[in-house]
Amino acid sequence: MPTVYATRKAHFNAAHRLHNPAKSDEWNREAFGKCNSPHFHGHNYHLEVTVAGAPSAERGYVVDLGDLKGVIQERVLEKVDHQNLNETVGFMDGVLPSTENFAMAIWDQLDGHVPGEAQLHRVRLYETERNFVDYYGE
Ligand code: NI
Repeated sequence: MPTVYATRKAHFNAAHRLHNPAKSDEWNREAFGKCNSPHFHGHNYHLEVTVAGAPSAERGYVVDLGDLKGVIQERVLEKVDHQNLNETVGFMDGVLPSTENFAMAIWDQLDGHVPGEAQLHRVRLYETERNFVDYYGE
């Protein structure tokens, strides 16, 4: 069976602060610079969720992208949009909110919840226009 990759994009705003509580304040300032500001700062995150599968015989779809949109909305956007990743997002509790760690946490939110037969393939998360990470689940 051929494998086709289908992607749904989403975007949201969230605040965070890069701070490792196991380290000293000095270490954190040195490691994270402005991103360690105690007052937090915001990002316009862009998320791309790619799923893989064979187009169905009946509809020719890998996934119903409207259904995938709904899952992303419910399992990610409703929990993170206009929230503080350090303080108000349950699935980020105790997680240093780097783009890498955040992408892995988003994967865990979505894995096993992709509609139909498709499999989650990639989570791509842009923290800025120029900086993004990819996570493939391992
Ligand atoms: Ni930041």
